[in-house]
Amino acid sequence: MNGPFELKPTLRGDRVELRPFQPADIDAMGAILADPEVLRLTGSVRTSAETLHQSATLDAETRRWYETRAEQPDRLDLALIDRSTGHCVGEAVFNEWSEADQSCNYRTLIGAAGRDRGLGTEATKLMVDYAFSATDLNRIELDVYDFNPRARHVYERAGFTYEGRKRQAFTFDGTRIDTVVMSILRQDHIGAALHPTQG
Ligand SMILES: CC(C)(COP(=O)(O)OP(=O)(O)OC[C@H]1O[C@@H](n2cnc3c(N)ncnc32)[C@H](O)[C@@H]1OP(=O)(O)O)[C@@H](O)C(=O)NCCC(=O)NCCS
Repeated sequence: MNGPFELKPTLRGDRVELRPFQPADIDAMGAILADPEVLRLTGSVRTSAETLHQSATLDAETRRWYETRAEQPDRLDLALIDRSTGHCVGEAVFNEWSEADQSCNYRTLIGAAGRDRGLGTEATKLMVDYAFSATDLNRIELDVYDFNPRARHVYERAGFTYEGRKRQAFTFDGTRIDTVVMSILRQDHIGAALHPTQG
């Protein structure tokens, strides 16, 4: 299968490096995916109780998943490295590519060691810049739970626009949560470059 992500880039910003997963990065993902906040905000579990006591060691299937990401031309999975330490603190992903629509989905997650220091904002901007400069993608979309205002803010800062909401699309701890849909189009990105705003 072909795809826009046959080449696996390394993207560098001031604080973040995004790169294909190396063995040490995969090791680090165990604790990151077991982080209670990551589990809750990515919809990986349905209750607070399930966020506790998750194993910080990847099972064989998940490890194999990371080991094979470089072979997938229809998606881009990059380790998110904190340049101040050189350690992997999360991941940034383009998936759900549609050739006919020239679109894909974006998602990211960062463990406790990397959050709230600007890494997610910079990583998202790097991914969007890459998509619109190195591929023919026209649209990138994402879903974010309504109980995650930080992520929504980060996506807005990276140029994503609110599109609407899927009402009560997700249930957590027995409470129904809306899912917010956001997107960025190639034309938005070019427009932002022509008319930059502060920050
Ligand atoms: C969401 C995530 C990627 C953001 O990355 P990050 O590196 O932590 O975020 P940054 O430090 O770049 O930016 C955080 C911004 O959110 C703002 N923020 C923090 N908490 C907020 C809140 N409750 N409401 C609104 N804004 C908030 C901060 O002020 C900052 O904005 P500023 O730079 O304009 O001041 C990361 O926190 C994460 O992975 N969290 C857990 C999993 C997750 O939520 N994944 C996304 C699923 S859609």
